[in-house]
Order: sequence, then C-alpha cells, then structure tokens
Amino acid sequence: MADIQKIKGFVDLFPSESDKFTFLEQTARTVFSRYGFGELRTPILEKTELFCRSIGEETDVVQKEMYTFLDRKDRSLTMRPEATAGVARAFIESGLWQPGLISRLYSLGPMFRYERPQKGRQRQFHQVNAELIGPVEPQADAEVILMLDAFLKAIGLQKLTVELNSLGCPECRPVFKHALKEFFAGIDAAGLCEDCRRRAGTNPLRVLDCKVPGCKALTKDAPSILDHLCDHCVPHFETVKTVLTRAGLPFTLNPRLVRGLDYYQRTTFEITSADIGAQASVAGGGRYDGLFKALGGPDIPAVGFACGMERLALLLGQMERPRPDFFVAVLDERAEDAAVLLAQTLREAGFSGEVSYKAGSMKSRLRQADKSRARNGLILGESEIAASQVTIKNMTVAGEQKTVPWAQVIENLY
Ligand code: HAM
Repeated sequence: MADIQKIKGFVDLFPSESDKFTFLEQTARTVFSRYGFGELRTPILEKTELFCRSIGEETDVVQKEMYTFLDRKDRSLTMRPEATAGVARAFIESGLWQPGLISRLYSLGPMFRYERPQKGRQRQFHQVNAELIGPVEPQADAEVILMLDAFLKAIGLQKLTVELNSLGCPECRPVFKHALKEFFAGIDAAGLCEDCRRRAGTNPLRVLDCKVPGCKALTKDAPSILDHLCDHCVPHFETVKTVLTRAGLPFTLNPRLVRGLDYYQRTTFEITSADIGAQASVAGGGRYDGLFKALGGPDIPAVGFACGMERLALLLGQMERPRPDFFVAVLDERAEDAAVLLAQTLREAGFSGEVSYKAGSMKSRLRQADKSRARNGLILGESEIAASQVTIKNMTVAGEQKTVPWAQVIENLY
C-alpha cells in the first residue's frame, strides 16, 4: 500500500475506465455541435457566495456538501458543486448579452460535493452540462430535453425514463407554497425527518422531494403543484409536453420532482435508469429564468441540464479498446534501437502500437504481442537484424507470416 492514498470519494481513472469518459465527452461534443452548442470552460474555484446565492442557502448542496475553504488572503472559495452558477457568472461578466441574443454553451468536467460515496456517487464526479441562454419560449425547454435524449441515445442507452414537472413561477409558486404550508399544519409534523420539519417552514417544496420513507408516507396526499400553475405557466408547460409528444419522446409527469437546487422555475426534468439502483438519476435540469438577475445581471431566461458521467459510465458496461496495429517484438538485444525506430516510422505513417524494449524469447514476446491485442507482431530477431528485415506475424490468423525488408513493412502489414 502506498504511503499516501487518495482522498475518500476521489477516484483514479485508468484507461479501462477513462476510455468510457473520453467516449462520453467525444459523443457529447459531436451531438451538441449539431444543436449549435459551443464549449465554455469555467474555473473550478469560485467565490462561495456565487453558489449560496444561486443554488440556495436551504439546499443540501449548500448546507452540507460544498468543499469550501479560506484561501491565503482569507477569502471564502468553493470548488464548484455544479456548473450552472459558474456559467451564469461567466456569461454576465463577459458582457456579451444583448436582448434577443441566444447563446448555446456546454461544459464538461469535474464537480465536487461532499456526499457519502457509493456506486455512481463520488465526491469528485464529472458532469456533461448544457445551457440554452436567452429564449423564454417553451420550445427551448423541449429542445434541450430532446438534445439530452439524443446524447443518451448516441451513447447507446435505452430503458431510460424522462420525468417532467413544472415548478411554477414567482407568481404561482407562493400560492402553492402557502397551500403546502397549510397541508403541513394539518399533519403530525413529528413524523417528518429532522430536515423536513425545518423545511416545512422554510422551503416546503423540498419536503415533497425527500426520500425518507416516513416523509414520503406523510406527504402522500399533499397538494400538487400542477394544480396550482398560473395562466402563464399552464400554457408554457402544455407546449413543452406537446412538442415532446410530437417529437415522439415519451415522458411521465412527476409533480414531486423538485430537484436539489433552488434556482429552477417552470419546467424541470430528470432522466432515470432502472439499471443503476438507488442512484437512479443520470441527468437532470430545467428552466432557471430568475438566476441571472439574482446574480446581479440582466434578466435573462435560460434552460439547461447536466448528466453525471460516473452514472453513464456504469450503464455503458465494459468497452473494448481499439486493437493496435502492431507490436514490435525484440528477440535480440542488437535490435533494441531498430525496434524503437521502426515503431516511430509506423506511428508517423498513422499506425498505432507498442515496443517490447528488452530482448526476450519468441514465446514470451509473442505472448506480450497477443496481450496487447495488436493485429501484427513485428519480430526482430538475430536473422532479421543480419538481413535488415522484419518478420510480420498476423496475430489474428494462426500460421500466417512473412519476412520483408525494413522499407516494405507498411505495405505488408496485415
Ligand atoms: P443535479 O441534479 O444536481 O443538477 O446534477 C445533475 C446530475 O449530476 C445528476 O443527475 C447526477 O447524475 C450527477 N450527480 C450529482 N451529484 C453526483 C455525485 N455526487 N456523484 C456522481 N454523480 C452526481 C445540476 O447539477 C444542475 N446544474 C443541472 C442543470 C444545468 N440545470 C440547469 N442547467
């Protein structure tokens, strides 16, 4: 065991795992560019206040999960627990916005939340995040959900459920909150968990989202937000549903879908998978029209989502690495220079592969070539060196091999 080990909830990703992350990132870039999105890279560290003001003081993320510390000049900084707040800050700070502008931005990278690590949940995790900034129209909500679905389909995922809700707006949500508070006043609050007893007064919507069985049972008959939407929110939500239906994307309504962050208004959604157990949410998002203003910027509507890459990687299963083109098997130590130079020539011509370095027996070197899954074993033994030749062994068909001059290796590869 090494003297110094990694921190709990932080993970090293070796090629068998990091290949999956690379595939997810590449697919996201390809799919999102079809929708006109470009990449925004924001810093991992931000001022703590950014997250308190955007995600909300009453959320678990802000109360329990942030990696916050004082820097050398006693400024409170936080490692981003999510991307949206930083994207909004960057967008406001850039001064790019003007009325009518629509901006499509995606971000990829690590996020940090001090949660209890388990399968698909880490303290350093990775998100694929996308934000559509500018349109107030409900069609934009549908467009980002369709883009998310296109991404998940492009990585080969099936059996996913889209859950949809509307959280109303500053006009109708207070009315609903009042109805909820009245409902809580009529039940035996002692049966709620400690967090929910407090939230029932401060942030009653969050009680609806609590996973504790006692809280779920007690709030079974709570009023539904969907019965309290105002005259602006009803048609907005209807249009989102209509566009998704016309696009052929099935969804289920979940009036208890509150989401863990406080900046949402109107449409919210989550994508879940039955295949990954308790951490079923692979992606989530929604509209957050009030966020830019709350951060001191212009009043800009926006909608977006984020996917957890660890959870997507779990669903991908094992990925086959592509087969390398060659493995240079050194059988004679006089061939050690030639081996590296031969590999270099092949790589410059666009082929991929490895070199064994040390001279060894034919048997051990071919075993190595086999293990690397290379299509060609390039053998450099005593006779090959003497004649400036290479023996090329087809590693995918037994018994096929030929010996050719150095300069003719490329055209003779299997
Ligand atoms: P979120 O629901 O907090 O939303 O996170 C989105 C996704 O990140 C989750 O569905 C989950 O897959 C993944 N995730 C969250 N925490 C962890 C963790 N500890 N370990 C592994 N995966 C995790 C947001 O972050 C919003 N910013 C999404 C958004 C963008 N809304 C609008 N624009």
